[in-house]
Amino acid sequence: MRVLVAVVAAVMAAGSATFAVAQHQHSHDASAPPVRDDRQFVKFPPALVEHTLANMRDHLQALQEIQLHLGMGHTDVAARIAETRLGMSSLGLHSAAEVSKYMPQGMQDAGTGMHRAASRFAIVAQEAGVTGDLKPVFSGLAEISAQCVGCHAGYRLK
Ligand code: HEC
Repeated sequence: MRVLVAVVAAVMAAGSATFAVAQHQHSHDASAPPVRDDRQFVKFPPALVEHTLANMRDHLQALQEIQLHLGMGHTDVAARIAETRLGMSSLGLHSAAEVSKYMPQGMQDAGTGMHRAASRFAIVAQEAGVTGDLKPVFSGLAEISAQCVGCHAGYRLK
């Protein structure tokens, strides 16, 4: 079963790499129509756009650090990173109150969803330190990522 899953994952990865190459070549063809973009434009004051994008880069880095520590079996460290950089405790860090007033409701909900998912992940990861069961930890990580993906699919700042 494990082998089958690995094979399927490898085939899918190869498929998406081919797709990425195809897309890349596509973008060099000046006569091609632009890639369709249905995301809603959200107008933030310019300084807040830069601030938000810097936060976003830190979100991605936090995810990377969480994965790194899970790989080393440091579930407690992963939990702390999730809570302080992405979870409910990070709201002050991101000046969330100031930013949220420029966001449409759906975007606010996705942001809240991410903070909640990260705080839930932090609890599950701490529990895994005791139980040794990592499955809920990886599901929790996927739930965090789903919030990133969902908001990115719906909204843009530029
Ligand atoms: C509430 C909505 C929302 C959530 C949740 C969200 N993002 Fe974003 N993110 C955005 C928007 C909007 C942009 C700008 C996209 C654009 O204008 O093209 C962005 C941009 C980014 C960028 C590009 C930064 C740059 O310098 O251009 C990264 C990286 C990123 N997000 C990572 C993440 C990660 C990782 C998560 C989840 C842990 C996440 N984001 C969650 C809305 C969100």
